[in-house]
Amino acid sequence: MAKNKINKNWIHDHINDPYVKLAQKEGYRARAAFKLKEIDEDEKLIKPGQVIVDLGCTPGSWAQYTRRKLSGKEGGGVHGTLIGLDILPMEPVADFHFIQGDFREAEVLQQLEAVVQGQKVDLVLSDMAPNLSGIPDSDAARMEHLIDLAIEFSQAHLKPEGSLLVKCFKDMGFNDIVHKFRAEFKTVIQKKPKASRDKSSEIFLLGRGLKNPTEGGMASAQPLDSGGWRP
Ligand SMILES: C[S@@+](CC[C@H](N)C(=O)[O-])C[C@H]1O[C@@H](n2cnc3c(N)ncnc32)[C@H](O)[C@@H]1O
Repeated sequence: MAKNKINKNWIHDHINDPYVKLAQKEGYRARAAFKLKEIDEDEKLIKPGQVIVDLGCTPGSWAQYTRRKLSGKEGGGVHGTLIGLDILPMEPVADFHFIQGDFREAEVLQQLEAVVQGQKVDLVLSDMAPNLSGIPDSDAARMEHLIDLAIEFSQAHLKPEGSLLVKCFKDMGFNDIVHKFRAEFKTVIQKKPKASRDKSSEIFLLGRGLKNPTEGGMASAQPLDSGGWRP
């Protein structure tokens, strides 16, 4: 199909998409909020008081959703800690500590760990996807690499009963990724929320409860102040 035609089809689908309209109505920056919302409502993932890390958080609709869940309603203070990162900049979300950087870089991981301050994390979210090259093996390898890093981070920082939710694509190393999840988590569930387009091979994997939790962590670390976004 010609590129113009693909663009026109995408614009047509986007304008007529009920989740785009709902996102506008409810003040979300992206329709992606409804993917997390449905998974959260099914699985009861997000609760006030939690420490949540949001990998690949821009433009910020998951950040808005998690903030609403931790505060009851936007505008009030949050009960919990919200931290996220993205290569791209993000408009501030109140009480959400944003780091701009590439999760694959050791320096960025160190920045994230410094912000986490040794607190054990309840939930790691990853909606990250690599820029696609169109070369299937190379795209699958990049996707797997991002998910490997999210699993590694979770292994080191999650509470024993914590959870990791990652976006995957069925045609990008999915079976390998499921295998790795099963090695790390007690329960592994696949989720295809209604807001995830049928024609997309996107699927979410949820791992709950570490099989081999790491000892320690600074349980008594001071929680972050709720000073909101910092550059
Ligand atoms: C689908 S968007 C996330 C949408 C977000 N969950 C929301 O609700 O607004 C995926 C994001 O992952 C980010 N991303 C991809 N690779 C990344 C990496 N290596 N490090 C940090 N962010 C990355 C992209 O820049 C992009 O903003």
